[in-house]
Amino acid sequence: MVAGNWKMNTTVAQGLALSQALMERISELPQGVTLVVAPPFTHLFPLGKQMEGSGIEVGAQNCAANQEGAYTGEVSAEMLASVGCTYVIIGHSERRTYYGEDDGVLTKKLTQALRAGVTPIFCIGEQLRERESERHFEVIHAQLKEVILTLNPSDFAKVVIAYEPVWAIGTGKTATAEQAQEIHAFIRKTLAGTFGALAVQTPILYGGSCKPSNAAELFAQADIDGGLIGGASLQAEDFLAIAKAF
Ligand code: 13P
Repeated sequence: MVAGNWKMNTTVAQGLALSQALMERISELPQGVTLVVAPPFTHLFPLGKQMEGSGIEVGAQNCAANQEGAYTGEVSAEMLASVGCTYVIIGHSERRTYYGEDDGVLTKKLTQALRAGVTPIFCIGEQLRERESERHFEVIHAQLKEVILTLNPSDFAKVVIAYEPVWAIGTGKTATAEQAQEIHAFIRKTLAGTFGALAVQTPILYGGSCKPSNAAELFAQADIDGGLIGGASLQAEDFLAIAKAF
């Protein structure tokens, strides 16, 4: 799976042009690659319509922690499903850092997504200071423990995990393939500790300055099952080149 997180970029018109460019070249991709684009909320409806039947999946970057009601400004998982959205990114480090999303809120968001039938892409990753003080395994374990490890097995089986070291996001500083594989293997082992053989099937994506020049090496690692791409997903050429490396 290769997913593009557009973050807060592009107008609707620019987004439609970008997805059009992707659709025109989708046939260049090898069989079996799931391509997902996660534009801002405003784009979901027109983009979903435009890409219907194209084979490209549409994802959102966030969803509400509640099902419905008096939550001004929020967009529920069910609303996402109603416009054909099949994925939702939950727990991105930017949401954790700038909007104070903690394990409690993230558990609720995950529950809402699963209830609405929208596949969650749950993000985890350590900060630079945590890696420098060699606490990265501990941090990753804690981020899984309070949210993912509390799920029942049938819900767990629907989840995608994305490892995004915060120090690699938008910095141009990618984790080496060895660093990424080490954490991915640790994530899978941690998941297997609770969910056994189900963990073998869980897609674990890598995100953080992934680009055409480093994607193939990252994707070649045993426990890296795809990528969550930020900056490079805003250029059709780069995003497709990364997907082709899968
Ligand atoms: P960059 O690819 O721009 O580093 O962003 C990664 C990311 O945060 C994807 O969710």
